[in-house]
Amino acid sequence: MSNKQPIELSPPHFDTVFNEQMLWGSPSAIVAGFEDEVKDFVGRPHAVAVHSGTSAIHLALKVLGIGRGDVVLCQSLTYVATAFPIMYEGAQPVFIDSEPDTGNLDPELLEQAIENLLAKGKKPAALIFVHLYGIPAKADKILSIAAKHNIPVIEDAAEALGAEYHSTRCGNFGAVSILSFNSNKVITSGGGGMLLTADKDLAAKAHYFATQAKDEGAVMNHREVGYNYRMNHVNATLGASQFTKLNERIQKRREICEFYKQSLGSLPGISFLSEQPQTCSSRWLTTLFIDPSASGGVARSQVQQALTKENIESRPVWKPMHLQPVFKDAPTYINGVSERLFTQGLCLPSGSNLSPQDLERISSVIKNVFKI
Ligand SMILES: Cc1ncc(COP(=O)(O)O)c(C=O)c1O
Repeated sequence: MSNKQPIELSPPHFDTVFNEQMLWGSPSAIVAGFEDEVKDFVGRPHAVAVHSGTSAIHLALKVLGIGRGDVVLCQSLTYVATAFPIMYEGAQPVFIDSEPDTGNLDPELLEQAIENLLAKGKKPAALIFVHLYGIPAKADKILSIAAKHNIPVIEDAAEALGAEYHSTRCGNFGAVSILSFNSNKVITSGGGGMLLTADKDLAAKAHYFATQAKDEGAVMNHREVGYNYRMNHVNATLGASQFTKLNERIQKRREICEFYKQSLGSLPGISFLSEQPQTCSSRWLTTLFIDPSASGGVARSQVQQALTKENIESRPVWKPMHLQPVFKDAPTYINGVSERLFTQGLCLPSGSNLSPQDLERISSVIKNVFKI
């Protein structure tokens, strides 16, 4: 192992002011202040801050009334946090494959899956789609297919705060959308998530379930099982202080992606996930794909090993949910795209605190592998 300075994939970038005085005042007003900032930025009327993106997805399913045995359609190529909450509710995930250009849910396959399930008498109760690595999915198509079949949609925008699709910010689609502020995201609250919605009643329900399902009134009366999911004011303060830097951080991540494209794009067999017209990616993580049939024999694993040797972190693209042992019995609608992206894709360091020297170091390690 090299003793060179380590370079991480997406470390937190703390250069904002955060002090004790910011915590003075009512904790609930501090959390509400952070919610206001995020919902104003995204453009959604209601927000509920919680302690993780995963708990926000769980609440999204709860408020949509998803329960035991319900079929929930879910993008296969994603982080497992998108899918686990389906299991928390005893529902049945059905995984759907990706389209090649964005790596996100394939709208045609989605439509086929819905029609096939309907023919079997299994109407999907909800659909969860993702903006992989901050690249906007084809939201218009996905939403119109779901609307045609009257299926409520959950938008998992955990990786896409600040990304835009057709002039609408990601996090503003579907019945309920969610964000994550965990420590590897573009901005962090140290750990946290947010549920957003245009529906006042759904927001009130989410708040209710996030705070132990307490009935209104002075007495602690509970008719349903609730959760302790509410974000605390320390995390909210940190999130709000980071939020001031969001645009700058996204700009930096986009520049990093451009650097990789310029520097590595002409190597044989290399490609990147593409931004579609009228979309803007947050480029949370830049992901490089290496096609071994065109790369002169260079495999993704060799590039990863070379980077590791130089103390540079990288990570294979998410292992699709339909390949996960935990979901081995789940029904699937598969076209081979996510498996290809998984075997060929490598996430490169993309943190907004990377220096030009760091980027040159990373790029020269990768170029060297192609010289062998
Ligand atoms: C696509 C996706 N969904 C959900 C989550 C869950 O967010 P959290 O880690 O805040 O629970 C993450 C991130 O970690 C994610 O990448």
